[in-house]
Amino acid sequence: MSKNVAVIILAAGKGERMKSELPKVLHPLCGRPLLSYVLSLVKNLKIKNKVAVLGYKHEQVKPYLDRDIKVALQRKLLGTADAVRKALSLLKGFRGTILILYGDIPLLKKEAVDKLIKRHHDVGAAATFLTAKMEKPQGYGRVLRDKYSTMCGIVEEKDADDFQKDIKEINTGIACFDKEKLVEALKSVKLNKKKKEYYLTDVISILYSKNELVETVDLADACEGMGVNSQKELAKAISIMRQRINDELMDSGITITDPQTTFIDYGVKIGQGTVIYPFTVIEKNVKIGKNCYIGPFVHLREDTQTKDNVTLGNFLEVARSKLDSGIFIKHFGYIGDARLGRSVNIGAGTVTANFDGKNKNTTVIEDGAFIGSDTILVAPVRIGKSAITGAGAVVLKDSKVPAGEVVAGVPARLLKKRKT
Ligand code: UD1
Ligand code: MG
Repeated sequence: MSKNVAVIILAAGKGERMKSELPKVLHPLCGRPLLSYVLSLVKNLKIKNKVAVLGYKHEQVKPYLDRDIKVALQRKLLGTADAVRKALSLLKGFRGTILILYGDIPLLKKEAVDKLIKRHHDVGAAATFLTAKMEKPQGYGRVLRDKYSTMCGIVEEKDADDFQKDIKEINTGIACFDKEKLVEALKSVKLNKKKKEYYLTDVISILYSKNELVETVDLADACEGMGVNSQKELAKAISIMRQRINDELMDSGITITDPQTTFIDYGVKIGQGTVIYPFTVIEKNVKIGKNCYIGPFVHLREDTQTKDNVTLGNFLEVARSKLDSGIFIKHFGYIGDARLGRSVNIGAGTVTANFDGKNKNTTVIEDGAFIGSDTILVAPVRIGKSAITGAGAVVLKDSKVPAGEVVAGVPARLLKKRKT
């Protein structure tokens, strides 16, 4: 637990450059909003005092915050310094270190923040900024250093001259401050005339001019400090996060034959020994058992679960369904809102017609059932244990095919059992 640290999460911005109505921090990245990554980081840091600054569509953002995070409202988006001022008004009794995190920096890892806090405390700085070297620093504030290489300011891209624009060292925005010194310095921040905003980054030159110690910590992996401000940056962040997710799964014993074309959301659980073939999309809250074969070209949508030894192949979509062990669905089809028992075999082209225009209805297929190719199951419908549907059968809604029986045709009728 970081005792004398309070964290301020800046998340009030609209995200003009996203050109989207959705608040920027709610844009999804591998199945969860940008902000959720920052909130998970905050949780891992185990900081007691937490304030989030919300503004644009704050009522949409607030439900994502845990209850122990205080909310400071910034009704007019007057810049990062103004946002921090609003947050500080909720931290009046607090003394110690203020950690600033930005809601639009989702890839940052705990280790980097720990290092920042440690350095800040070790050297007793007034402010410590996390900086990074970027080959393409466009859009970021550039770090200015004096002849002794001490950081003396940050210049925003919009205000930078050509020489400053060439600087490759950037401000990630993540920083630690001594609270009293921050409060004092904020009083001197002036409105930036071009952007009509108060910049938090101006605090650096203010502290520097007062001979206060301003320290920097270089972020070893610059990607972690990436800010998401545009759709293009979002796509880049998604691709980095996707790689992290795939790497972690591979490290835990999952085979992913082509990580470049495998899209797995954050938090998806997959059992050891499972093989994922290319062009597979696995959405959030999906759980896959051990020793399964998934793909190629499979789309497993939200809330789908499979047990072990399940094979799902080419051009299949499964949504909100529970699949027991030993199931084969090897070819194209759609399974939605369904519960499939053990060792069920689903033929090519099978479709659960789950939506009647108003409601999503359930399909139940019990253990050992064999669904012939091109069967349409109009939900709600139940196929009994070891029952069979003939190729091309249309099983009408509210039907219950008894265990062990065979149905076929359009609409599907019970076939008489052959005499043996
Ligand atoms: C900011 C930094 C820049 C840095 C970059 C790193 C400033 C002035 N600039 O620029 O030096 O390189 O981040 O990604 O700080 N926000 C509010 N209220 C506001 C304005 C912004 O809460 O009035 C929040 C946003 O929601 C966002 C964060 O502050 O989470 C940063 O704002 P953004 O507009 O993205 O700043 P950048 O232009 O990226
Ligand atoms: Mg930003």
